[in-house]
Amino acid sequence: MTGQTPTIETVMTTAPVIPVVTVTDAETAVPLAAALVRGGLPVIEITLRTPAGIEAIRRISREVPDAIVGAGTVLNARDVVAAREAGAAFGVSPGLTSALIAALADHGDDGGRRWPFLPGIATASEAMAAMEAGYDRVKLFPATVTGGTALIKALSAPFPQLRFCPTGGITAETAGSFLNLPAVACVGGSWLTPKDAVEAGDWQRVEDLARTAAALA
Ligand code: 3PG
Repeated sequence: MTGQTPTIETVMTTAPVIPVVTVTDAETAVPLAAALVRGGLPVIEITLRTPAGIEAIRRISREVPDAIVGAGTVLNARDVVAAREAGAAFGVSPGLTSALIAALADHGDDGGRRWPFLPGIATASEAMAAMEAGYDRVKLFPATVTGGTALIKALSAPFPQLRFCPTGGITAETAGSFLNLPAVACVGGSWLTPKDAVEAGDWQRVEDLARTAAALA
């Protein structure tokens, strides 16, 4: 999505699923993102776990105008700066540290508007730390092993203002049970871009997986 910064609300509600994509070859980034967009999943998280991640974000932000591409696995100030410089419209982290909060304050400002960011939480204390830092839209990570839908229901009692993007271990089969919860705005997952499909350039399969996921809305 060139030229405009989405709100965190837009990031979380444009589609029911945010594909979490780890790119090993930046050449695959544009056709992969285009397939996800065609399938109805325009909000895409590219993780910074591989050296190709930043270049993938740069290419998608320039060449796939209908995509809203963000950076995942944002761990520190260096990641915040690199992701924003590459054109990431939002950021996602598996957790939240005081150093990351400071980095977001120092480098995450866009003319007075904060870079849309989903910090990761897994406990009540982490939820409180995120809210203290001004974040009430969070990633629950790793969603399945930390307690899944039961944990979200439990955290929603003391923290009704929280909205979740659970991620980690979610599949096409289990996504619906998360999306049924009022506190869940969207889910994240890597099942949309299977390694073998990406390696084979099977963009039709990626598009079909995206279309099925988009229909979960
Ligand atoms: C993440 O980065 O959020 C997770 O690794 C994605 O989890 P999944 O591969 O279990 O979907």
